[in-house]
Amino acid sequence: MDDLKQSLGYKYLQETKFDPKSIRQISRLEIHPTEPFKKYSDTETITLPTDWQKDSSLQDALQSRRSHRRYEDLPLSIQDLAMLLWASQGITGRAGNYFLRAAPSAGALYPIETYLAVNNVESVEAGLYHFQVAEFCLAKLGSGFLGEKVAQAALGQNFLARAGVVFMWSALLRRNFSKYGHRGLRYVLMDAGHICQNMLLAAEALNLGACPVAAFYDDELNRLLNLDGEEESVVYLASVGAKI
Ligand SMILES: Cc1cc2nc3c(=O)[nH]c(=O)nc-3n(C[C@H](O)[C@H](O)[C@H](O)COP(=O)(O)O)c2cc1C
Repeated sequence: MDDLKQSLGYKYLQETKFDPKSIRQISRLEIHPTEPFKKYSDTETITLPTDWQKDSSLQDALQSRRSHRRYEDLPLSIQDLAMLLWASQGITGRAGNYFLRAAPSAGALYPIETYLAVNNVESVEAGLYHFQVAEFCLAKLGSGFLGEKVAQAALGQNFLARAGVVFMWSALLRRNFSKYGHRGLRYVLMDAGHICQNMLLAAEALNLGACPVAAFYDDELNRLLNLDGEEESVVYLASVGAKI
């Protein structure tokens, strides 16, 4: 429907898509970089302690999380996959009519959908799946190893083909824009960030290797997922596999 096209968020998303043709002609903007750390030198400072209570698994996961792009050729267990899905998008509470999830969402609207390219997961046939949040189950959308195609669509980042599973998060723009209008895209992308970070920390807690990925040919991936790229478009990916 054309109403969505009035929003700045829709236009921005369309204008910033990578595709194999335009990426070759991409003209880098002449924006000068800045220093990596901001520092106020002429002010009083308070040195912070680092001897805080050091026995939580969350702290361990935060400390040791790194992006892992090399994986053992070992299957993920379905239990681990279920835990990652729960940590990223599982329902953890209820407030009136709203079902609240593990990751926060602007207005509790949850515009992000989760698709999986299952490459190597115990008792789950390789293929394309959609995570059905309310039922806590996977809907099978297609059979067969998709790893190479996903890697290809992600600018040839081949490690995606060797991961046990690739999470592919899409944004259903209307779910958010109908409330937040032009400002909506900010929130949609923040939501995706929260979801991905929850998943990455959960993967670390399970001693799995994971890597977030945002470089991809948008419409190539959308086609793979059978998304129209307008109402719903892929915004973020993450690979997960057994750590080497
Ligand atoms: C928004 C975003 C996009 C990223 N896209 C890619 C990507 O396309 N390919 C990749 O290998 N890593 C990607 N990364 C991972 C970063 O390279 C990585 O987080 C960064 O180098 C810091 O390292 P660390 O994650 O190990 O702490 C991305 C990270 C973020 C947050």
